[in-house]
Amino acid sequence: MERNRWYKDMVFYQIWPRSFKDGNGDGMGDLWGVLSKLDYIRSLGCDGIWFSPVYPSPGADCGYDIADYTDIAPEFGGMEAFRAVLDGLHNRGMKLIMDLVVNHTSDEHEWFQKSRQRIDPYTDYYIWRPKKPNGKLPNNWQSNFEGSAWQWDEVRGEYYLHLFAVKQPDLNMDNPLVREEVKRILRFWLDMGVDGFREDVITFISKKKGLPDDRLFPIYKGMRHYNHGPHVHEYLTEFKRDVLDHYDCMTLAEAPLVSPKRALEYIDEENGQMDMMIQFQCQTADCLFTDWLPTKFSLRRLKKAFSVWQYGLEGKAWNMLYLENHDHPRIISRYGSEAYRRDSGKALAAAYLFLKGTPFIYQGQEIGMLNWKPAKPELYNDVQTRNHFANSNPKKPLEKRLRELWRSSRDSARTPVQWDDSENAGFTTGTPWLPVNENYKEINAAAEERDPDSLLNFYRKAIALRKALPAVRDGEYREYFRLSSKLYVYSRKTDEQKLLVICSFADTDMKIRVPRGFDLKSGKLILQSHTDISESTLKPYESRVYLWE
Ligand code: GLC
Ligand code: CA
Repeated sequence: MERNRWYKDMVFYQIWPRSFKDGNGDGMGDLWGVLSKLDYIRSLGCDGIWFSPVYPSPGADCGYDIADYTDIAPEFGGMEAFRAVLDGLHNRGMKLIMDLVVNHTSDEHEWFQKSRQRIDPYTDYYIWRPKKPNGKLPNNWQSNFEGSAWQWDEVRGEYYLHLFAVKQPDLNMDNPLVREEVKRILRFWLDMGVDGFREDVITFISKKKGLPDDRLFPIYKGMRHYNHGPHVHEYLTEFKRDVLDHYDCMTLAEAPLVSPKRALEYIDEENGQMDMMIQFQCQTADCLFTDWLPTKFSLRRLKKAFSVWQYGLEGKAWNMLYLENHDHPRIISRYGSEAYRRDSGKALAAAYLFLKGTPFIYQGQEIGMLNWKPAKPELYNDVQTRNHFANSNPKKPLEKRLRELWRSSRDSARTPVQWDDSENAGFTTGTPWLPVNENYKEINAAAEERDPDSLLNFYRKAIALRKALPAVRDGEYREYFRLSSKLYVYSRKTDEQKLLVICSFADTDMKIRVPRGFDLKSGKLILQSHTDISESTLKPYESRVYLWE
């Protein structure tokens, strides 16, 4: 079937349901809340939503531990509220993609309950291993949430593999019955009318035969034996051939540690198995591999991450563009400046919204939310954060350990969306499940709405331009002044249009630099972060977009 690849014209908004908007006053975000905000999302110019998991789940990893794949959790409003949201979106010409989490399930899933009792056909649904004769663990792989990736199960008398939390046992995708289950899940949602899937750590689903020890890597121990594993393309091809090809849908692959070259094996438009990829390179401009190994922010590293993917996929595959999601702290706190919140937020927006690809915006990013900085470690909910804190050096001063959490925790970006300056930021009339960031009186959507120069309105303008200008969709990308550690300058060109984006990441004035062949005087300034601008100088974090046609 010839595909029209509608996702190339879209801008997506990611909803992390617990913290988006509470509709029934129980303190937890839900689908009634989402329903009440569809017009807000539409008003941004977004025409698609990605829902982080909304299925029944004990919540050990905030829904990424699924107990039932073909239902909606009652606390989110159940199937009825879900259908209302789906209709609400489709009536507005918008699309919806679901989070497909099939590397693992919850240990409370019926499959696991039966597997641990060796009840067929579930006996081999998971990755079970007996105790070694020497009493050692099956191998030395580490969980991505700290500690060994193996957990002893008393019921079965064997270990099971969990690449994430203990309550997230890995499925055995080598078992054809498990793959049939995945196809059944895909069909269930597609038949209901959803438009596609974001597929959670999908590159992890095939583990190397024999599950060998990892003797190389000090961090992510084991990952080289399960990331991009031996049968991953075979299984994804099967899902595509048997299900996806029969629907007008799109798929987005989450892929830790991936190069553009490797990405093409998954998303090449000629023979890939999926459509776009969430890569992590753009998340490591201020850390080494993970948010938990922080370094100083380097604009050069960020620019390189953008450029490598822009050039690397050109003409062959389509980029997914993002700065924030539910797995990383807030981008202004990381790559921008809290002191220049609005302007650095605009510079970051301009830096990625004019790239080639499909942008995703994470709830709260568009109103410039900042990292949460709670006073006590007990306030954290996230399993990864709690494990990290439990394993961190207790001899370090508490204040220092806390600062590390602020800087690296996923909860830094998971606090409730700040809608207005009323109690609990207008998120709930009850007690929020996770505290609201204390800065909500100042930083909230209502305040952003009122101010024509706000970050929110900048996002709206940038998205409207994206939609109006063919050069943003199709133009060739080129980066200039690659070595500058303060300026990001790039162009997008088609035969008819030329666009130049200039963003300063300096907190002082900067001399403006214009690439050869561009004359700013003859260009039209179509987007600017500051109203009052100079010909020769950029203000701190100033950004501009020029157009020639
Ligand atoms: C992905 C999700 C993350 C989750 C993990 C395990 O990385 O984005 O939130 O904890 O997978 O499912
Ligand atoms: Ca609720």
